[in-house]
Amino acid sequence: MMTDIYENLTLCINEIRKKTDMIPETAIVLGSGLNQYSTYIQNACIINYGELSNFPVSTNKMHHGRFIFGYVDKKPVVAMDGRIHYYEGYSIEQVVMPIRLMKMLGAETLILSNAAGGINETFQVGDFMIITDQISSLVPSPLIGPNMDALGCRFPDMSHIYDSQLIWAIKNCAENLGIDMKEGIYLQTSGPNYESPAEIRFYRSIGADAVGMSTACEAVAAVHCGFKVCGISCITNKAAGISNTPLSDEEVAVVAGKSSENFCRLMDSVIRQI
Ligand code: HPA
Repeated sequence: MMTDIYENLTLCINEIRKKTDMIPETAIVLGSGLNQYSTYIQNACIINYGELSNFPVSTNKMHHGRFIFGYVDKKPVVAMDGRIHYYEGYSIEQVVMPIRLMKMLGAETLILSNAAGGINETFQVGDFMIITDQISSLVPSPLIGPNMDALGCRFPDMSHIYDSQLIWAIKNCAENLGIDMKEGIYLQTSGPNYESPAEIRFYRSIGADAVGMSTACEAVAAVHCGFKVCGISCITNKAAGISNTPLSDEEVAVVAGKSSENFCRLMDSVIRQI
């Protein structure tokens, strides 16, 4: 039951508060292969998801599964070093528990990041894409079930999921750092299988530029609970059917790892500016 999840989140907050009293301003979700940014967070207090009662843990080997509380410059932040995915078998409301937890801890801005396949044929492997909007209709809404009134309303508006001021700030930081920034629409599938070429043609025809297995459901839950949200995809591969290279998580990890230095520079600059 949803209300049980809310009570559980309250319990987890108490557990976290025994370890840190820090009130984060900015929450960050580090995508596959992009977790090097966690080393930029100073005075870190690390809490593994497994230390929290009934909290989902990351089963994906590319994801650590821990919160990192600390500072970037003087700004208090909390980062998710490893996220929870729907394909791991958790319910969609369990998948978004960490997002809601970070809001309940006080964070107001959420920066999402991910590795994604490029559907837009002008995108190159290694490009960054700022997410301007999303298609989440292929996975269940994380808001299904009794509404958590303490967090947000029953029928939240999704006209402006990604905050235009944050988009502007990210573009500005990227330009100052000389990092090329594409923009586009992110589509979430459940995964864990990659898509078929016919699915990619379908997704392109409905307006998607990039595809991944996370993020959109997190953004819906984040808007519901009042976060200001932005998102950056690292295009780790051309989506199925565009190139002949078979898709693999190794390739995703290698490409994201190579882009990681620029990603860290960008994140550092964005967090200082917002
Ligand atoms: N499809 C889905 N998820 C992904 C991809 C992809 O091509 N690349 C990285 N994550």
